[in-house]
Amino acid sequence: MTPPNPPGRFRVGLLGNGTVGSALAALLPEHADRIEVRTGLRPELTGILTRSSGDFDDLLERSDLIVELIGGIEPAREYVLRAMRAGRHVVTANKQLLSQHGEELWDTARELGVQLRFEGAVAGVVPVIRVLQESLAGATIDRVHGIVNGTTNFILTEMARTGATFSEALAEAQRLGFAEADPAEDVDGRDAAAKMAILARLAFDTPVRLDQVRYEGIEHIKPDDLEYARELGLGLKLIGTAERIGGGLSVRVHPAFLYPGHPLASVSGPFNAVTVESEAITEITMSGPGAGGPQTASAVLGDVISAMIPPASTPETTQALKLVQDVVSAFYLHLEVADEPGVLAQVAQLLAEQGVSVKSVVQKGMRDQARLVMVVHPVLESRFSGAMKLIADLAVLRAPPRAIRVLEEEFG
Ligand SMILES: NC(=O)c1ccc[n+]([C@@H]2O[C@H](COP(=O)([O-])OP(=O)(O)OC[C@H]3O[C@@H](n4cnc5c(N)ncnc54)[C@H](OP(=O)(O)O)[C@@H]3O)[C@@H](O)[C@H]2O)c1
Repeated sequence: MTPPNPPGRFRVGLLGNGTVGSALAALLPEHADRIEVRTGLRPELTGILTRSSGDFDDLLERSDLIVELIGGIEPAREYVLRAMRAGRHVVTANKQLLSQHGEELWDTARELGVQLRFEGAVAGVVPVIRVLQESLAGATIDRVHGIVNGTTNFILTEMARTGATFSEALAEAQRLGFAEADPAEDVDGRDAAAKMAILARLAFDTPVRLDQVRYEGIEHIKPDDLEYARELGLGLKLIGTAERIGGGLSVRVHPAFLYPGHPLASVSGPFNAVTVESEAITEITMSGPGAGGPQTASAVLGDVISAMIPPASTPETTQALKLVQDVVSAFYLHLEVADEPGVLAQVAQLLAEQGVSVKSVVQKGMRDQARLVMVVHPVLESRFSGAMKLIADLAVLRAPPRAIRVLEEEFG
């Protein structure tokens, strides 16, 4: 079905007039002249749908392309499907929708020969979707690592910089506009998990849904974890990983310590970054602002301009890699124990029984208590959690053990 495109004009219907929608409504007329020179078509906003104003059917009738910036699942899913079925291209920044209903939407776009673009859905203005879909289409990707949530990266940066608690750093993030009033999906890792599901789908041509991504947030991180880690030469980030493992695919999000040479170690504040690793290209890292109205709107406008020129689509899934849950990781382990002789030996023995070997230890006495902070060599996570359960039962323990993963690779 060909939409009725008046000569020389390209009509954009906008769903949502919030942080990103209102920024796009301002940006589009500002760039109309430049876009017309580039594409031969002059973009114009035909209308904006919100909860209280506008009519979807009327907007669809008068638009060549629909931009969905409502967020959430319904009615966004329904509107996106109806727009594509009416032959319209769609641009969206909705990671929740794509990570839960992506296959249905991409299948529909392919079947109907319309474009569904979503650069703004992951890492804001960092052009990681385009790079995976187009620039790296010829590379076999082994792993994608990402800092894909700016709120948590700001909080962790602030905790490391000032010694603030999680709650204090979150309050500061909210004050500066880097965290929503309800930050639950950011701090518990779900937002990053949705983005990693999308990146994994594109990098590995395998269907990945949000409910297949294991995620853990940063609410439990304590200031002294960051302090001791500094002594061990480590920095903390909320890391999303999608990687091939033994013929399968592991997609996960959790806090992890990084050594200073890691390409993501220097990404601080609300910035996002994604590292893509492939034997053919070694490794590339892209970084930049991960959110914000004007920033995300500029990624969305880039998608609108691309849709005005030649077609691009998300290919069918050609692989069906099995999703792997138990992976190998190094760990930082923090124990509050009684200050008695032989405690370290007891802990070391339990670790050894599970095949966990210690790489480095920092020990501090504090009156009748001692603090043991160690980094262990890479081990299967199931083995490490087995050791953690045994350690938690030790009579000498004064608080539940705390563990955070460490990314071991050294980058030159
Ligand atoms: N904010 C960011 O920095 C950012 C970054 C990357 C991606 N995104 C994504 O961009 C999308 C939009 O985010 P946002 O921050 O701009 O959201 P927002 O500020 O909450 O705005 C949402 C807009 O959608 C409208 N809306 C909500 N439910 C609707 C419904 N049932 N029917 C019609 N309109 C409805 C709202 O209407 P009312 O005005 O009537 O309430 C509002 O104008 C989301 O998918 C988000 O994940 C946002």
